[in-house]
Amino acid sequence: MTNGIIILDFGSQYNQLIGRRIREMEVYSEIIPFNTPLEEILAKKPAGIILSGGPSSVNAEDAHLVKKSLFEAGIPILGICYGMQLTTHLLGGKVKKGIKGEYGKSSLRIREKSKLFTDIPENSVVWMSHFDEVENIPEGFVINAETDVISSISNETKNIYCVQFHPEVSHSEYGTKMLENFVFNICKAEKNWKLTNYIDRTVAEIKEKVGTQKVILGLSGGVDSSVAAVLIHKAIGNQLTCIFVDTGLLRKNEAQKVMENYGEYFNLNIKLIDASEHFLSKLKGVSDPERKRKIIGNEFIEVFDEESSKIEGAKFLAQGTIYPDVIESQSVKGPSAVIKSHHNVGGLPEDMDFELLEPLRELFKDEVRKVGEELGIPHHLVYRHPFPGPGLGIRVLGEVDAEKVRILQDADDIFIEELYKNDLYHKVSQAFVVLLPVKSVGVMGDERTYEYTAVVRSANTIDFMTATWSKLPYEFLENVSNRIINEVKGINRVAYDISSKPPATIEWE
Ligand code: XMP
Repeated sequence: MTNGIIILDFGSQYNQLIGRRIREMEVYSEIIPFNTPLEEILAKKPAGIILSGGPSSVNAEDAHLVKKSLFEAGIPILGICYGMQLTTHLLGGKVKKGIKGEYGKSSLRIREKSKLFTDIPENSVVWMSHFDEVENIPEGFVINAETDVISSISNETKNIYCVQFHPEVSHSEYGTKMLENFVFNICKAEKNWKLTNYIDRTVAEIKEKVGTQKVILGLSGGVDSSVAAVLIHKAIGNQLTCIFVDTGLLRKNEAQKVMENYGEYFNLNIKLIDASEHFLSKLKGVSDPERKRKIIGNEFIEVFDEESSKIEGAKFLAQGTIYPDVIESQSVKGPSAVIKSHHNVGGLPEDMDFELLEPLRELFKDEVRKVGEELGIPHHLVYRHPFPGPGLGIRVLGEVDAEKVRILQDADDIFIEELYKNDLYHKVSQAFVVLLPVKSVGVMGDERTYEYTAVVRSANTIDFMTATWSKLPYEFLENVSNRIINEVKGINRVAYDISSKPPATIEWE
């Protein structure tokens, strides 16, 4: 890397977001552990260094520190949150324990403009998340801005800038502008980051890491594992074996489509395992959603384990883990407070004897999609709605059997087809059909029917934590309902789910 920005990771949950903001400016950025030796950092010839936030206190005995000489290397530095406290602490100022901390939105008042605040109004909103605070600033520094506490200091002669708030978070009104000021006006970084560079770099890294060894990957047909597979295949070709487990709980013709799209088109080496009967037999008699989830998860692991053990000499296990999968469990490169442990969809056992290969680990979903398109994966595959690991196992409510799965697959396929046809698919975030274990009376021709009820569900959401039901046009819904009832044997009634999340969830189980 030359002329990019190094982010030293002290464990903040926001580090990847800083990286992302800088990538959005088309500038290369790299997140490395805070304790990377200075020579290694300098060898990268960065245009600037960002000291990230982090959960610890500079006054703690085991505080994460850097060598003071970092500040003498002549490279512009931006300290964010913990980074500001660290700079203060190391350069002779004082950080004290706060009384109540500051979390969420605060009003920033600029007292004395530094270059960081070029073209930024005197009063603006910033996002804070800190407990400790700067009490005395180091010699040679000035106070540039305040909230309830000292919120920005700088030593412009030495090109050192610090902020107590998080400019990378979208709630910080002029945060992006501040980062741009740092990256372009202060560091004079070059715009040279493109997805193609990312792909080339990652391909080279995979080649180097894997050498002549073999890699296996659990392909699900979803965006993340598919992009990871194509990327890894680009690097090492058929040293990669993908295992695709057909649980029998997938969308209609999914296995066949995956083999066509990725096996034939991209030439990936895919082992298709048809385990549908196995899964269905394990689910027989089970109607509790959580038990179904557990059974499906365990069976998946078992099947995958067995199949992967047949691939002799495989040393690496590749996964399509992306940054949001990681964010809640640990920091990518450094220490961080663990919030909750995360298992990638279809979670694999922890005791598998493989080294992990996760080339998308630092990317956000939309970046993964762009990488996918850059690699030549068709738009409609890269922009698919998410599909839960347990699949139709949790969309056939109650007990699952082959017939119900077939009915649901057919109904779901019609709904999705109509969404595409009517240009609505990409206007909703997740759409599917649910099959209820309830039969009701209907009439078809002269015949009385007694069949299942299907529920059409479509949600709009940004983060899947909250969601609203999609306001799809009546005529469209009418057509979907007619088609399902007329074409799918086994369904004679269709309802539309108009519940938001919360209090409902997106899935029904
Ligand atoms: P809910 O139903 O909780 O769903 O509103 C939110 C998002 O999570 C997906 N989901 C799952 N994904 N395994 C998964 O891999 C699961 O057990 C699971 N349950 C829900 C759901 O499809 C939606 O996108």
